[in-house]
Amino acid sequence: MLSLPPTLKTNYTVATFTDSPQSTADWECFLAWLAAESGLDLLAYKPHQIYQRLAPRRQMADFTTWTDYRRHLQVHPNVLKHLMQNLTISVSSFFRDPELWEILEQNLSSQPGSTPLRAWSAACAGGQELYSLAILLDRSGRLAGSELIGSDCNGQSINQAIRAEYRFTRLDEDLPEGLRGYAQARNSGYVLSERLRSAVSFRQEDLFRQPFSGNWDLIFCRNLLIYLNEQAQTRLVRRLAQALRPGGLLFLGRSERVSLPSRLGLVQIVSCLYRRKELLQAEFPLHSGYQT
Ligand SMILES: C[S@@+](CC[C@H](N)C(=O)[O-])C[C@H]1O[C@@H](n2cnc3c(N)ncnc32)[C@H](O)[C@@H]1O
Repeated sequence: MLSLPPTLKTNYTVATFTDSPQSTADWECFLAWLAAESGLDLLAYKPHQIYQRLAPRRQMADFTTWTDYRRHLQVHPNVLKHLMQNLTISVSSFFRDPELWEILEQNLSSQPGSTPLRAWSAACAGGQELYSLAILLDRSGRLAGSELIGSDCNGQSINQAIRAEYRFTRLDEDLPEGLRGYAQARNSGYVLSERLRSAVSFRQEDLFRQPFSGNWDLIFCRNLLIYLNEQAQTRLVRRLAQALRPGGLLFLGRSERVSLPSRLGLVQIVSCLYRRKELLQAEFPLHSGYQT
Protein backbone atom coordinates (compact mmCIF):
# COMPACT_ATOMS: atom_id res chain seq x y z
CA MET A 1 0.00 0.00 0.00
CA LEU A 2 1.27 3.51 -0.82
CA SER A 3 1.99 5.71 2.15
CA LEU A 4 3.63 9.00 2.93
CA PRO A 5 7.11 9.33 4.38
CA PRO A 6 6.56 9.72 8.16
CA THR A 7 8.51 13.00 8.32
CA LEU A 8 6.22 14.57 5.76
CA LYS A 9 3.00 13.13 6.99
CA THR A 10 1.97 16.13 9.09
CA ASN A 11 1.80 18.27 5.93
CA TYR A 12 -0.87 16.01 4.50
CA THR A 13 -2.91 15.80 7.68
CA VAL A 14 -6.40 16.73 6.70
CA ALA A 15 -8.42 15.55 9.68
CA THR A 16 -10.16 18.93 9.68
CA PHE A 17 -11.73 18.27 6.31
CA THR A 18 -12.10 14.51 6.28
CA ASP A 19 -14.54 12.96 8.70
CA SER A 20 -12.77 9.92 10.17
CA PRO A 21 -9.29 8.42 10.66
CA GLN A 22 -10.12 5.92 7.88
CA SER A 23 -11.04 8.63 5.40
CA THR A 24 -7.91 10.61 6.35
CA ALA A 25 -5.76 7.54 5.67
CA ASP A 26 -7.68 6.97 2.42
CA TRP A 27 -7.00 10.58 1.35
CA GLU A 28 -3.32 10.51 2.34
CA CYS A 29 -2.80 7.33 0.41
CA PHE A 30 -4.48 8.83 -2.67
CA LEU A 31 -2.29 11.94 -2.46
CA ALA A 32 0.89 9.89 -2.18
CA TRP A 33 -0.14 8.03 -5.32
CA LEU A 34 -1.06 11.24 -7.17
CA ALA A 35 2.22 12.93 -6.20
CA ALA A 36 4.11 9.97 -7.63
CA GLU A 37 1.96 9.94 -10.81
CA SER A 38 2.07 13.68 -11.44
CA GLY A 39 5.68 14.28 -10.44
CA LEU A 40 4.39 17.40 -8.64
CA ASP A 41 5.65 18.14 -5.15
CA LEU A 42 2.15 18.20 -3.68
CA LEU A 43 3.58 18.68 -0.20
CA ALA A 44 4.51 22.23 -1.13
CA TYR A 45 0.86 23.31 -1.45
CA LYS A 46 -1.66 24.18 1.24
CA PRO A 47 -3.37 20.82 1.87
CA HIS A 48 -6.89 22.25 1.95
CA GLN A 49 -6.35 23.88 -1.49
CA ILE A 50 -5.49 20.51 -3.00
CA TYR A 51 -8.39 18.85 -1.20
CA GLN A 52 -10.86 21.49 -2.37
CA ARG A 53 -9.80 20.97 -5.98
CA LEU A 54 -9.98 17.20 -5.88
CA ALA A 55 -12.97 16.43 -3.66
CA PRO A 56 -15.64 17.78 -6.06
CA ARG A 57 -14.12 15.75 -8.90
CA ARG A 58 -14.35 12.55 -6.90
CA GLN A 59 -17.92 13.35 -5.92
CA MET A 60 -18.92 14.17 -9.50
CA ALA A 61 -17.45 10.86 -10.64
CA ASP A 62 -19.65 9.26 -7.97
CA PHE A 63 -17.00 7.55 -5.86
CA THR A 64 -17.30 7.47 -2.10
CA THR A 65 -13.69 6.60 -1.30
CA TRP A 66 -10.37 7.94 -2.58
CA THR A 67 -9.19 4.37 -3.13
CA ASP A 68 -12.07 3.72 -5.55
CA TYR A 69 -11.38 7.01 -7.30
CA ARG A 70 -7.69 6.07 -7.66
CA ARG A 71 -8.66 2.72 -9.24
CA HIS A 72 -10.91 4.58 -11.66
CA LEU A 73 -8.10 6.98 -12.62
CA GLN A 74 -5.68 4.12 -13.07
CA VAL A 75 -7.81 2.61 -15.81
CA HIS A 76 -8.81 5.96 -17.35
CA PRO A 77 -5.51 7.70 -18.14
CA ASN A 78 -7.27 10.53 -20.02
CA VAL A 79 -9.32 11.43 -16.95
CA LEU A 80 -6.13 11.35 -14.88
CA LYS A 81 -4.35 13.57 -17.40
CA HIS A 82 -7.20 16.08 -17.32
CA LEU A 83 -7.26 16.07 -13.54
CA MET A 84 -3.54 16.78 -13.37
CA GLN A 85 -3.80 19.66 -15.82
CA ASN A 86 -6.43 21.16 -13.57
CA LEU A 87 -4.65 20.54 -10.29
CA THR A 88 -2.76 23.82 -10.50
CA ILE A 89 -4.74 27.00 -11.00
CA SER A 90 -3.69 28.41 -14.36
CA VAL A 91 -5.60 31.66 -14.35
CA SER A 92 -4.00 34.84 -15.58
CA SER A 93 -4.68 38.00 -17.55
CA PHE A 94 -2.83 40.69 -19.48
CA PHE A 95 -1.52 43.55 -17.33
CA ARG A 96 -3.13 41.96 -14.28
CA ASP A 97 -3.43 44.65 -11.56
CA PRO A 98 -2.65 47.57 -13.92
CA GLU A 99 -1.62 49.97 -11.15
CA LEU A 100 1.16 47.57 -10.15
CA TRP A 101 2.33 47.40 -13.76
CA GLU A 102 2.62 51.19 -13.73
CA ILE A 103 4.88 50.96 -10.69
CA LEU A 104 6.89 48.23 -12.37
CA GLU A 105 7.26 50.37 -15.49
CA GLN A 106 8.56 53.33 -13.46
CA ASN A 107 11.09 51.12 -11.72
CA LEU A 108 12.25 49.51 -14.94
CA SER A 109 12.85 52.86 -16.56
CA SER A 110 14.96 53.93 -13.57
CA GLN A 111 17.12 50.78 -13.67
CA PRO A 112 20.69 51.75 -14.50
CA GLY A 113 22.39 50.04 -17.42
CA SER A 114 19.64 47.51 -17.89
CA THR A 115 18.94 47.56 -21.62
CA PRO A 116 18.26 44.96 -22.89
CA LEU A 117 16.46 43.15 -20.10
CA ARG A 118 16.68 39.54 -18.83
CA ALA A 119 13.29 38.66 -17.40
CA TRP A 120 11.73 35.42 -16.20
CA SER A 121 8.04 34.85 -15.61
CA ALA A 122 8.02 31.92 -13.18
CA ALA A 123 4.61 30.21 -13.03
CA CYS A 124 3.56 32.09 -16.17
CA ALA A 125 0.26 30.23 -16.83
CA GLY A 126 -0.78 30.99 -20.45
CA GLY A 127 1.99 33.56 -20.94
CA GLN A 128 -0.14 36.69 -20.41
CA GLU A 129 2.35 38.16 -17.93
CA LEU A 130 5.39 37.74 -20.16
CA TYR A 131 3.58 39.09 -23.23
CA SER A 132 2.45 42.10 -21.18
CA LEU A 133 6.10 42.76 -20.36
CA ALA A 134 7.07 42.34 -24.03
CA ILE A 135 4.49 45.00 -24.96
CA LEU A 136 5.72 47.33 -22.27
CA LEU A 137 9.32 46.93 -23.46
CA ASP A 138 8.32 47.33 -27.09
CA ARG A 139 6.65 50.65 -26.33
CA SER A 140 9.82 51.94 -24.71
CA GLY A 141 12.07 50.59 -27.48
CA ARG A 142 13.68 47.99 -25.21
CA LEU A 143 12.26 44.79 -26.66
CA ALA A 144 15.00 44.05 -29.20
CA GLY A 145 17.74 41.99 -27.61
CA SER A 146 15.84 41.40 -24.36
CA GLU A 147 15.72 37.82 -23.10
CA LEU A 148 12.18 36.97 -21.97
CA ILE A 149 11.44 33.52 -20.65
CA GLY A 150 8.30 32.01 -19.14
CA SER A 151 7.97 28.73 -17.29
CA ASP A 152 5.14 26.76 -15.75
CA CYS A 153 4.65 23.18 -14.60
CA ASN A 154 1.38 22.92 -16.52
CA GLY A 155 2.02 21.62 -20.05
CA GLN A 156 -1.35 22.80 -21.38
CA SER A 157 -0.64 26.35 -20.21
CA ILE A 158 2.79 26.32 -21.81
CA ASN A 159 1.27 25.16 -25.10
CA GLN A 160 -1.20 28.02 -24.97
CA ALA A 161 1.63 30.47 -24.19
CA ILE A 162 3.57 29.26 -27.22
CA ARG A 163 0.51 29.44 -29.49
CA ALA A 164 -0.35 32.86 -27.99
CA GLU A 165 -4.02 32.23 -28.75
CA TYR A 166 -6.68 33.32 -26.30
CA ARG A 167 -10.43 32.91 -26.31
CA PHE A 168 -13.08 35.40 -25.33
CA THR A 169 -15.14 34.08 -22.45
CA ARG A 170 -18.11 36.40 -23.10
CA LEU A 171 -19.84 37.29 -26.37
CA ASP A 172 -19.46 41.03 -25.78
CA GLU A 173 -15.81 40.76 -24.78
CA ASP A 174 -13.29 43.05 -26.46
CA LEU A 175 -9.50 42.89 -26.77
CA PRO A 176 -7.91 43.33 -23.33
CA GLU A 177 -6.67 46.84 -22.56
CA GLY A 178 -3.15 47.35 -23.84
CA LEU A 179 -3.24 44.71 -26.60
CA ARG A 180 -4.33 46.97 -29.46
CA GLY A 181 -1.79 46.79 -32.26
CA TYR A 182 -0.40 43.55 -30.86
CA ALA A 183 -3.23 41.08 -31.56
CA GLN A 184 -5.49 39.92 -34.38
CA ALA A 185 -8.96 38.40 -34.18
CA ARG A 186 -9.00 34.64 -34.65
CA ASN A 187 -11.96 32.28 -34.24
CA SER A 188 -13.75 33.39 -31.11
CA GLY A 189 -10.71 35.09 -29.66
CA TYR A 190 -7.42 36.60 -30.73
CA VAL A 191 -3.82 35.68 -31.46
CA LEU A 192 -0.82 37.81 -30.54
CA SER A 193 1.46 39.21 -33.22
CA GLU A 194 4.50 37.39 -34.54
CA ARG A 195 6.58 40.32 -33.29
CA LEU A 196 5.65 39.47 -29.69
CA ARG A 197 5.79 35.70 -30.13
CA SER A 198 9.29 35.78 -31.54
CA ALA A 199 10.52 37.89 -28.61
CA VAL A 200 9.66 35.34 -25.90
CA SER A 201 10.24 31.68 -25.13
CA PHE A 202 8.49 29.24 -22.84
CA ARG A 203 9.33 25.95 -21.18
CA GLN A 204 7.57 23.46 -18.98
CA GLU A 205 9.32 23.46 -15.63
CA ASP A 206 8.45 22.63 -12.03
CA LEU A 207 9.84 25.30 -9.71
CA PHE A 208 10.36 22.71 -6.99
CA ARG A 209 12.17 20.20 -9.12
CA GLN A 210 14.43 22.20 -11.41
CA PRO A 211 17.46 24.35 -10.62
CA PHE A 212 17.20 28.07 -11.47
CA SER A 213 19.56 29.98 -13.69
CA GLY A 214 20.66 33.33 -12.27
CA ASN A 215 21.42 36.97 -12.93
CA TRP A 216 17.88 38.02 -13.85
CA ASP A 217 17.01 41.72 -14.07
CA LEU A 218 13.39 40.91 -13.32
CA ILE A 219 11.57 37.87 -11.98
CA PHE A 220 7.79 37.56 -11.87
CA CYS A 221 6.37 35.04 -9.46
CA ARG A 222 2.82 36.21 -9.08
CA ASN A 223 -0.14 34.45 -7.53
CA LEU A 224 1.59 31.16 -6.82
CA LEU A 225 2.87 31.77 -3.28
CA ILE A 226 -0.71 32.07 -2.01
CA TYR A 227 -1.26 28.38 -2.83
CA LEU A 228 1.90 27.18 -1.08
CA ASN A 229 2.49 26.27 2.55
CA GLU A 230 4.70 28.58 4.57
CA GLN A 231 7.80 26.43 4.34
CA ALA A 232 7.56 26.14 0.56
CA GLN A 233 6.94 29.90 0.22
CA THR A 234 10.08 30.69 2.21
CA ARG A 235 12.15 28.19 0.26
CA LEU A 236 10.94 29.47 -3.11
CA VAL A 237 11.33 33.19 -2.33
CA ARG A 238 14.88 32.60 -1.06
CA ARG A 239 15.83 30.85 -4.31
CA LEU A 240 14.18 33.56 -6.42
CA ALA A 241 16.02 36.31 -4.50
CA GLN A 242 19.26 34.52 -5.13
CA ALA A 243 18.52 34.24 -8.85
CA LEU A 244 18.30 38.04 -9.21
CA ARG A 245 21.28 40.11 -10.15
CA PRO A 246 22.10 42.89 -7.66
CA GLY A 247 19.59 45.66 -8.40
CA GLY A 248 17.17 43.16 -10.02
CA LEU A 249 13.43 43.25 -9.32
CA LEU A 250 11.13 40.60 -7.86
CA PHE A 251 7.46 41.10 -8.71
CA LEU A 252 4.98 39.06 -6.63
CA GLY A 253 1.17 38.90 -6.67
CA ARG A 254 -0.92 41.72 -5.22
CA SER A 255 -1.43 40.05 -1.84
CA GLU A 256 1.93 38.29 -1.63
CA ARG A 257 4.81 39.54 0.54
CA VAL A 258 8.34 38.49 1.47
CA SER A 259 8.70 38.15 5.22
CA LEU A 260 11.94 39.70 6.49
CA PRO A 261 13.11 40.79 3.02
CA SER A 262 16.40 42.25 4.30
CA ARG A 263 17.52 38.75 5.31
CA LEU A 264 17.36 37.81 1.65
CA GLY A 265 19.10 40.97 0.52
CA LEU A 266 15.81 42.43 -0.76
CA VAL A 267 14.39 45.91 -0.29
CA GLN A 268 10.64 46.42 -0.55
CA ILE A 269 9.89 49.12 -3.12
CA VAL A 270 6.14 49.01 -2.77
CA SER A 271 3.74 46.29 -1.59
CA CYS A 272 4.67 43.27 -3.74
CA LEU A 273 7.66 44.70 -5.65
CA TYR A 274 11.19 44.15 -4.29
CA ARG A 275 14.67 45.07 -5.42
CA ARG A 276 17.78 43.07 -4.68
CA LYS A 277 20.36 45.20 -2.89
CA GLU A 278 23.37 46.33 -4.87
CA LEU A 279 25.79 44.49 -2.60
CA LEU A 280 28.11 41.61 -3.04
CA GLN A 281 26.45 38.22 -2.74
CA ALA A 282 28.90 37.26 0.03
CA GLU A 283 27.24 39.83 2.29
CA PHE A 284 24.05 37.80 2.41
CA PRO A 285 23.96 34.36 3.96
CA LEU A 286 21.92 32.95 1.10
CA HIS A 287 22.01 29.23 0.54
CA SER A 288 23.51 28.39 -2.77
CA GLY A 289 22.16 26.04 -5.39
CA TYR A 290 18.93 24.14 -5.56
CA GLN A 291 17.43 23.00 -2.31
CA THR A 292 14.33 21.04 -1.51
C1 LIG B 1 -2.77 31.59 -10.59
S1 LIG B 1 -1.59 31.20 -11.81
C2 LIG B 1 -0.65 32.69 -11.87
C3 LIG B 1 -0.31 33.10 -13.28
C4 LIG B 1 0.41 34.43 -13.41
N1 LIG B 1 1.67 34.41 -12.72
C5 LIG B 1 -0.44 35.55 -12.90
O1 LIG B 1 -0.25 36.03 -11.79
O2 LIG B 1 -1.36 35.98 -13.61
C6 LIG B 1 -0.50 30.08 -10.93
C7 LIG B 1 0.38 29.29 -11.86
O3 LIG B 1 1.37 28.60 -11.09
C8 LIG B 1 1.66 27.39 -11.75
N2 LIG B 1 2.35 26.48 -10.83
C9 LIG B 1 1.82 25.86 -9.76
N3 LIG B 1 2.75 25.09 -9.17
C10 LIG B 1 3.89 25.24 -9.90
C11 LIG B 1 5.19 24.67 -9.82
N4 LIG B 1 5.51 23.82 -8.84
N5 LIG B 1 6.11 25.01 -10.75
C12 LIG B 1 5.79 25.86 -11.75
N6 LIG B 1 4.57 26.43 -11.89
C13 LIG B 1 3.63 26.13 -10.97
C14 LIG B 1 0.29 26.90 -12.19
O4 LIG B 1 0.35 25.92 -13.20
C15 LIG B 1 -0.36 28.21 -12.63
O5 LIG B 1 -0.20 28.41 -14.01
